[in-house]
Amino acid sequence: MDGAAFSAAIPAGVDWCAGADCVVHHSAAVEWNLIRAEFPILAQEVNGHPLIYFDNAATTQKPRPVLDALQNYYEHNNANVHRGLHELSSRATEAYESARQRVALYLNAASADEIVFTRGTTESINLVAQTWGGKFLRPNDVILLTEMEHHSNLVPWQLLAERMGAQLRFVPVRDDGTLALEELPGLLTPEVKLFAFTHISNSLGTINPVTQLCREARRVGALTLVDAAQSAGHLPLDVQSLGCDFLAFSGHKMCGPTGIGALYGRADVLETLPPWHGGGEMIVSVSLTKSSYKQAPHRFEAGTPNIAGAIGLAAAIDYLEPIGRPEIFAHDSALAAYAAQRLTEIPGMRLLGPSEERGALVGFVMDSVHPHDLTTFADQYGLALRGGHHCNQPLMKRFGVPGTTRASFYFYNTSAEIDRMIEILQAAHRFFA
Ligand SMILES: Cc1ncc(COP(=O)(O)O)c(C=O)c1O
Repeated sequence: MDGAAFSAAIPAGVDWCAGADCVVHHSAAVEWNLIRAEFPILAQEVNGHPLIYFDNAATTQKPRPVLDALQNYYEHNNANVHRGLHELSSRATEAYESARQRVALYLNAASADEIVFTRGTTESINLVAQTWGGKFLRPNDVILLTEMEHHSNLVPWQLLAERMGAQLRFVPVRDDGTLALEELPGLLTPEVKLFAFTHISNSLGTINPVTQLCREARRVGALTLVDAAQSAGHLPLDVQSLGCDFLAFSGHKMCGPTGIGALYGRADVLETLPPWHGGGEMIVSVSLTKSSYKQAPHRFEAGTPNIAGAIGLAAAIDYLEPIGRPEIFAHDSALAAYAAQRLTEIPGMRLLGPSEERGALVGFVMDSVHPHDLTTFADQYGLALRGGHHCNQPLMKRFGVPGTTRASFYFYNTSAEIDRMIEILQAAHRFFA
């Protein structure tokens, strides 16, 4: 890692689960520059400047081994899974099912049968809302959410609540971007049947205390769903020690391809859920008027799945694991802390989110400059930021802003890139003054 200021910004011993689930190791041994060289897309100029890619919370870039795994599959093994009795189909099935095992291991699930492949976080949450919600929710039951949820963890519950006559409740967000945990006892009452919350806020960077929230929910008999879209590629996740019932994530936010993700569901809960999509592969037998269904997880995977996606996701996991998720977390949160510190040098800058223990991103508002204008300005210098509401409209309203500009980091980013971002933002400040 380069830069004395950057080293000084490394947070000491952050406990990101606030329940002592994990320990942070700072690894000077990881050769981040060599790792960066494995991402071909990063070695280009955009608008005449070296690309600085700070839109990792939207999607991350893909390293060579993931690209190779996709190409190798299509060049040598492509066939449909679970159907053919020929060699290529056996290979494809073997690769697809071992990808499921790879995901289970990554999350420390008790079994690969607890992993349902989906298109990503959004589809995973919709699966739970439609299957669990449709079967178990009753009028006036309550689903507890938080004010910081991405629309993906809000709209499916709104649709469900409307359909079932259920209620939604929200844990408020404090001014510093953390959850108002002191309000939990009044919110987590026995009417709450499910508590769904994000692990890391995609706008604020807040890291929520998952273990504690799951424990509190269990006390009133509520199930829990963790939106791990922003955490799965950034820090160790152990679903058994977190104590959640469901966990959703997307492959494309952790070096994998788009269109693939997974839902973890605790075996005894998953097994009680009815199918949601009907079609091939999810049935045991079919007559003209009735069908019987496979066990989980296959019951939830109708039709030809995203085989290449699953293989690419497994390759991404194989890529991340040797680097080490504790090392990735330490690196990324140090970058975020450094960025937060340097952003305060710019006049009229307002940062959102906690001042300590933030995930790999910073959201900010520059006095009188619309985030879209700022993002467009940055793009002229090859700097990819994101401006807007980040699928967090209620949260933006909570903070009284139409949107923010967000810089989000991954392990291939550097403190030198942050220094360059600050120069560009200073130029923007002068330009828009
Ligand atoms: C916290 C959070 N939840 C859910 C999602 C939705 O993920 P996807 O679009 O991959 O389904 C995102 C994407 O940005 C996110 O940041």
